[in-house]
Amino acid sequence: MYWLGLDVGTGGSRALLVDAKGMVRHSYTAAHEDMAMARPLWAEQHPDDWWRASQEAIKGVLKAANITGEAVRGIGVSGQMHGLVLLDKDNRVIRPALIWCDQRSQKQVDCINATVGSKTILESTANPMLTGFTLPKLLWIRDEEPANFERVRKILLPKDYIRFKLTGEFATEVSDASGTGLFDVVRRRWSREMMTALGLDMNILPRAYESSDITGTVTREIAEATGLQSGTPVVGGGGDQAASAIGNGIVEPGAVSCTIGTSGVVFAYMEKPAYDELGRVHTFCHAIPGAWHVMGVTQGAGLSLQWFRNRFAPEMAYDDLTAEGALSTRGSQGLFWLPYLMGERTPHLDASARGAWIGLTARHQRPDLIRAILEGVCFSQRDCLEIIRALGAPVSIVRLSGGGARSPFWHQLFADIFRSPVATLETQEGSAYGAALLALVGTGEYQSAREICSVAVHEVQTKSPDPDTAPYYERAYGIYRSLYPALKQAFGAISQLDE
Ligand code: XUL
Repeated sequence: MYWLGLDVGTGGSRALLVDAKGMVRHSYTAAHEDMAMARPLWAEQHPDDWWRASQEAIKGVLKAANITGEAVRGIGVSGQMHGLVLLDKDNRVIRPALIWCDQRSQKQVDCINATVGSKTILESTANPMLTGFTLPKLLWIRDEEPANFERVRKILLPKDYIRFKLTGEFATEVSDASGTGLFDVVRRRWSREMMTALGLDMNILPRAYESSDITGTVTREIAEATGLQSGTPVVGGGGDQAASAIGNGIVEPGAVSCTIGTSGVVFAYMEKPAYDELGRVHTFCHAIPGAWHVMGVTQGAGLSLQWFRNRFAPEMAYDDLTAEGALSTRGSQGLFWLPYLMGERTPHLDASARGAWIGLTARHQRPDLIRAILEGVCFSQRDCLEIIRALGAPVSIVRLSGGGARSPFWHQLFADIFRSPVATLETQEGSAYGAALLALVGTGEYQSAREICSVAVHEVQTKSPDPDTAPYYERAYGIYRSLYPALKQAFGAISQLDE
């Protein structure tokens, strides 16, 4: 018997199958079209492209395993968070989705703050309002595309659109709903206060479940189209970060995770909601009933390396790029990378922040540029880790997953720059894996996510900070931290230049 996890990421949709012990047996990824960026800091993808890729991934993984849908006992879905999918009265997609890294909605954030008041927003949602969240994106549609807004009957998050296609149900779950700006994270339900204050209709929201609850079953029509069996239960799953945290075993205080996908996220389990006074990290529901998490987000972590590769070395594999970066020396000969390619969330909360190499000289070569990117991503994730440490979350070890975990060189950089032991895991599958584990819980194979994690999640390699290199990076981190404040005003002016 198998359980299927499906992750609707930014770059692609990934389906994987686990067995009853939570061991990964097969996987299949189907790429998405690149995000459309009509203007700097705008980012859209079409939900129908996610659905095309999701079906391809489901069919691909069933074929790879040489099984029919009857062998799949349950499905969990995860996906990129915060995106806005708009459906009309016939359940058709109204326009492409504004996705998580879209930063166009500062005006709407200001308007929400003025209308609702930042204190009420914090009390109602446990977080400040941010351009990355779903609500300001919805209000941007209201302000700028009123004809589209008129047609809206339901709003869905990316993975919940795929759930709707699979099951015909309008549903979400607490971890992903937390990132909308409309969810009462403390009470784990939609915030009527926010909806009412902004004159929005509660009926546009999907029903919110806990992450391991069954939210619906695969319809006959979709069973025929994908090879799944009709009636297969689909559990809530999670936003990609909460799902990935389940896959990384972040299910109790102690270990935190650092996941380098397009974004980079430091994630810590919390028994009670804890808040950063400045709102620099998110306080969201965990994919475990009665648990929460805090996370700090670097918008352009893996994206920094992807951007470099696509623009300057499209023929190169990522492994070869990181190997080339290793040819430079520590500190990249005095070169720093600010990874703010899509503005920044933690710690600056600044949609206008821009990426930059600082410290270039005529001597610098390509390996220095690459190494500076790898180091810059570590520094930005250290910013996240520091805020989480200051909130009192115990950090016994950092578990590294995603792209960062595939390079031993980058792994050591993380340990040196975090000044903490950093471990990789036996199964480095991230969000799709966590979604499959939640399906195991939801179908009753295990009592809880903690139980399956204790069986399935194992650390394999731990790297400790190098006693000689770590102090060097501590000094470099001090310089890194001084760069954004020095440039903040200029970034703001740049963003006004072509307005
Ligand atoms: C988390 C976040 C990203 C996206 C894309 O808050 O915005 O991690 O979910 O992966």
